[in-house]
Amino acid sequence: MPLPDQPHAPHLLGIEPLPLSRIEAILDRAAQFQRQPPPRTLAGKRLLLLFYEASTRTRTSFEVAARRLGAETVSVTPGSSSIEKGESLLDTVYTLRAMAIDGIVVRHSSSGAPHLVAAHVDVPVINAGDGMHEHPTQALLDAFTIRRHRGTIAGLRVAIIGDVLHSRVARSNLLLLSRLGAEVRLCGPRTLLPPEFAAYGDHVRLSWDLEDALNGADVVMVLRIQMERMKESFFPSEAEYVARYSVTPARMRAARPDAIVMHPGPMIRGVEISAEVADSPQSVIREQVENGVLIRMAVLHELLVCHEPHP
Ligand code: NCD
Repeated sequence: MPLPDQPHAPHLLGIEPLPLSRIEAILDRAAQFQRQPPPRTLAGKRLLLLFYEASTRTRTSFEVAARRLGAETVSVTPGSSSIEKGESLLDTVYTLRAMAIDGIVVRHSSSGAPHLVAAHVDVPVINAGDGMHEHPTQALLDAFTIRRHRGTIAGLRVAIIGDVLHSRVARSNLLLLSRLGAEVRLCGPRTLLPPEFAAYGDHVRLSWDLEDALNGADVVMVLRIQMERMKESFFPSEAEYVARYSVTPARMRAARPDAIVMHPGPMIRGVEISAEVADSPQSVIREQVENGVLIRMAVLHELLVCHEPHP
């Protein structure tokens, strides 16, 4: 039987509906957790990790974050659950809700899946990536990483390169970084960068030319080609993609000498980024992973502690 609909439970479903005050509070909390060891504010709570799509970084990062705050985690993934037997998303959620869950983290290949869950449960729901739509904690950890290196985001030139069309990371980042005052340059082959993307943010600019996008950039964010979301051919061949869009040391010369290089992972070396750039002193790719834990701790603390209903 469906649980009562409680639309007022706090959630993190995307960057789009997130007020600036909540964004700032999450970034500040993550910085605070970095300065001093976080308190075990989630002791006695149980977090459900419901991952319908493959994940290495995001799932383990939520797991580590939850445990560092003292919570217990229950992980459900296809192959180890009735998800494979065809149980519907909501039936799975209702079953697991019966086990006294205090929050749910959802990753799903369908855009909007976490929103559906949120409309049917009375606990906070966090979107850990829904189809081609949003990946809010990734954008928050990226913003946090940029701030650590540059102090601010306003006025920076951020180039986001590659398969923008299929990337929830690109969408959440362009919403967040343009809201925080960055100039966001989206770059990729025409088929992976439709002109409509210009309408996504106030300071968004499209370019099909890599050198133009990298020119004077402060931040270079490289995306993976999301083959799993492509039903048709979007570019002639991998070799052609590499020839025009792979981020190499020679191409990085167009960016500012102190530009930082980011990638959400998983990264395909030799395709969207060369190994030299990925391992260069400018690369903050490993630091993004560390910061992911801090941001997820901040988000869990915000949703499960700050919004706790008072008796
Ligand atoms: C991204 C994702 O799943 O959207 N990965 C991640 O969460 N770190 C990007 C990708 O899969 O390419």
